[in-house]
Amino acid sequence: MGEILKFERSESYQPLSSIWYGEDSELLNLMLEFYPRKKPELILDATINKGRFWIGSEYPVIGLDIASRYRPSVVGDNMLMPFRSESLDVVVYDPPHIPNQGKDNQKDFQDRFGLVLKSPKENGYNFNHLYGPFTLEAYRVLKPEGILLCKITDYIHHHRYQWAHIEVIMSAREAGFKACDCIVKVRKGPIIDPRWKVAHHSRRHHCYWLIFRKSIKCE
Ligand SMILES: C[S@@+](CC[C@H](N)C(=O)[O-])C[C@H]1O[C@@H](n2cnc3c(N)ncnc32)[C@H](O)[C@@H]1O
Repeated sequence: MGEILKFERSESYQPLSSIWYGEDSELLNLMLEFYPRKKPELILDATINKGRFWIGSEYPVIGLDIASRYRPSVVGDNMLMPFRSESLDVVVYDPPHIPNQGKDNQKDFQDRFGLVLKSPKENGYNFNHLYGPFTLEAYRVLKPEGILLCKITDYIHHHRYQWAHIEVIMSAREAGFKACDCIVKVRKGPIIDPRWKVAHHSRRHHCYWLIFRKSIKCE
């Protein structure tokens, strides 16, 4: 009996690697098959921008963005979401990750990475202050057992390593999520500011996909 069960499981089970070299859109498809307990019906991309994640996807997605110029399905703030509590199966989050770029290269960074926000000195020139309010809202709008998928890039700013992925994990746990998994996505090229001549940090060739569940357990 044990053997039969094992066989049945292994037929449908497709492992997912903890390192990803492909596109985000392909990985998202795999993650949406792998983590939710049943096929997700209502997916929110809380930072949709130009919607690159969903190119070729068959999932219907509600796209939220604070910037109306990207023509999201809903213009709004993901720290105060215009959605009912416990109404969504999956929330996807890809926040801005390099604050305060200089004037000359601002356009380039915005076009390539959708970086729209600035962060003043009072916020330590980083985006850590966004994660608490966002994760609380994501927790509220997700159904029980719902999944939160976050693409997070650590970065060097103000001559300091900014540990964004750790800040997001701490905020999500505080909001009530279970931190369940982590996939390292390898970038084709690192984000490089043209002004950098010699940097005393390694070049960021990767980012993280963090997987959270609104549950007391991951399995
Ligand atoms: C890094 S981009 C997302 C890129 C997107 N995943 C893609 O692949 O096309 C971040 C986006 O978050 C949006 N954003 C920033 N703060 C926001 C907020 N408080 N609420 C909703 N969207 C926000 C920005 O306008 C920007 O379009």
